[in-house]
Amino acid sequence: MNLKDQLIPERLPQHVAIIMDGNGRWARKRGAARIFGHQSGVTPVHDVVEASGELGIKYLTLYAFSTENWGRPADEIENLMLLLVSTIKKETKKLMDNNVRLMTIGDLSKLAETPREELLKLKQLTAANTGLTVILALSYSARSELIQAAKKIIGDAREGKITPEEMNGTIFESYLETAGIPDPELLIRTSGEVRISNFLLYQIAYTELYFTPVFWPDFRKKDYYEALLDFQNRERRFGKTSEQV
Ligand code: IPE
Ligand code: IPE
Ligand code: MG
Repeated sequence: MNLKDQLIPERLPQHVAIIMDGNGRWARKRGAARIFGHQSGVTPVHDVVEASGELGIKYLTLYAFSTENWGRPADEIENLMLLLVSTIKKETKKLMDNNVRLMTIGDLSKLAETPREELLKLKQLTAANTGLTVILALSYSARSELIQAAKKIIGDAREGKITPEEMNGTIFESYLETAGIPDPELLIRTSGEVRISNFLLYQIAYTELYFTPVFWPDFRKKDYYEALLDFQNRERRFGKTSEQV
């Protein structure tokens, strides 16, 4: 039986998050410039978006650029932004045809005007789509997200909109950039690195983590199905005993 047929539809996650890592090393291994790795990272994005839609997964969060990535050489950042704009332009029709909604998390105000405008346009265009929601984490930092939430809460408390007694998990989550989006059940990181790199710190409290040595440009549907199969074989206990779940 092929990998896809082994998946049990009722046991699929509704939200998968991916740290798409290893583009630079993939290119270097081939004696090519890092940007070639980023360019080659577009095909696997197609693959996971398409596969998620086919499987009926509701949310796919893709970590594309971290706040820390602003510290990279200027030409790499510039090339990445150019790649983002050209990919948006190329993919718009396909996203619409497939009923995909695009959202973003992260501080887009740090982006140059063209990529920011293109992203806003695409978000508006796809806002009413009801299929898969793709959440692009761009210029994202989980710590900044939490600090921003704290700032907003302090402001609302000052204005009397919220009291310490009222604060709870549901209200706190409404202050995060992921408000309204369920936590990911599965987080995949490619390239063999075993760390979180400032991604979704609050939201992954009980997420299943999956690390694969495959570099992102080599990641294909088959690798995605393997991660999903691995997820389906885990016992999610949420603090309880095996007998209780
Ligand atoms: C991930 O690949 C893409 C971004 C962070 C933008 P890297 O560029 O981090 O590739 P490596 O980790 O250096 O191989
Ligand atoms: C994490 O990858 C960010 C993205 C994949 C966008 P990095 O390559 O920036 O992470 P570190 O620096 O290895 O932790
Ligand atoms: Mg990396």
